[in-house]
Amino acid sequence: MGVCGYLFLPWKCLVVVSLRLLFLVPTGVPVRSGDATFPKAMDNVTVRQGESATLRCTIDDRVTRVAWLNRSTILYAGNDKWSIDPRVIILVNTPTQYSIMIQNVDVYDEGPYTCSVQTDNHPKTSRVHLIVQDGQGFVSEDEYLEISDIKRDQSGEYECSALNDVAAPDVRKVKITVNYPPYISKAKNTGVSVGQKGILSCEASAVPTAEFQWFKEDTRLATGLDGVRVESRGHISTLTFFNVSEKDYGNYTCVATNKLGNTNASITLYGPGAVIDGVNSASRALACLWLSGTLFAHFFIKF
Ligand SMILES: *[C@@H]1O[C@H](CO)[C@@H](O)[C@H](O)[C@H]1NC(C)=O
Ligand SMILES: *[C@@H]1O[C@H](CO)[C@@H](O)[C@H](O)[C@H]1NC(C)=O
Ligand SMILES: *[C@@H]1O[C@H](CO)[C@@H](O)[C@H](O)[C@H]1NC(C)=O
Ligand SMILES: *[C@@H]1O[C@H](CO)[C@@H](O)[C@H](O)[C@H]1NC(C)=O
Ligand SMILES: *[C@@H]1O[C@H](CO)[C@@H](O)[C@H](O)[C@H]1NC(C)=O
Repeated sequence: MGVCGYLFLPWKCLVVVSLRLLFLVPTGVPVRSGDATFPKAMDNVTVRQGESATLRCTIDDRVTRVAWLNRSTILYAGNDKWSIDPRVIILVNTPTQYSIMIQNVDVYDEGPYTCSVQTDNHPKTSRVHLIVQDGQGFVSEDEYLEISDIKRDQSGEYECSALNDVAAPDVRKVKITVNYPPYISKAKNTGVSVGQKGILSCEASAVPTAEFQWFKEDTRLATGLDGVRVESRGHISTLTFFNVSEKDYGNYTCVATNKLGNTNASITLYGPGAVIDGVNSASRALACLWLSGTLFAHFFIKF
């Protein structure tokens, strides 16, 4: 007991002596790191200065005595608190688990902690290192995701996850919107007889959503003028003629604009019998396709 003789803290001395009585640890022999598999303490614990550290030890019902030690100092033996440190509290003492918590961890708390158990009259230990990260000395790193030459279909939600071995990962979502100027995806020529209702429609894809304008030659068309209605909803704009007359036939221009640019398409409103570049042959081809589709469907239904 030479060491105890000149220690300034007699309480510590008492603890060491008591430990030896409790677990029959031979004098001068450090608490050995026993059986690799039992008791099972968790892996090394890393916490930031000021946070709480939980020390967990998995045990079984053969265990008759349990204790957690800081180096060779008992912190808790069963439910009895030996440590005078108010930051040390017991969390769980069940037949399967024995855990304590050290609150407001300081750098001085860093070091080996031992879960010591007595099973069938044999002391066994398991060691876990508490690693304390200096609160001030943290490093901040930036990480970038660079998407060069971004494409429209790369829009969407991206997830950034930062993790280290201290805490659960921190995940943030970043929504990426790829802006692009309008392009007109659908602008179909339409045939209508005089006296009927006619609708020209123009579809444009754009981010932000495009604004539409309709022109006949240089004249801008608006709802209420010449019996027409201009209506834009999302990426589709329609020009409605309530009562088509001869003078309505001709070419119209649909202009789609957003902050990145504009584009336009020419759409023809034509009367019965009109032959407009490719239009009639295209509709004939379509009709043909439709017909063969119908025939095919009939064929299919029969068999
Ligand atoms: C653990 O032991 C070290 C060294 O004696 C001491 O500085 C520290 O305060 C102790 N920590 C706890 C939680 O008992
Ligand atoms: C735990 O920490 C100690 C001291 O830093 C180290 O020697 C040991 O290899 C570590 N064990 C594990 C399982 O990481
Ligand atoms: C359409 O216009 C013609 C000529 O102006 C007119 O005779 C006819 O009554 C109108 N039809 C409707 C449904 O308004
Ligand atoms: C309408 O457009 C078509 C095709 O772009 C062109 O051939 C035709 O001459 C135009 N008609 C008028 C009246 O401008
Ligand atoms: C339509 O686009 C052409 C070519 O980009 C441009 O020259 C023309 O002025 C545009 N027309 C309108 C009405 O915006």
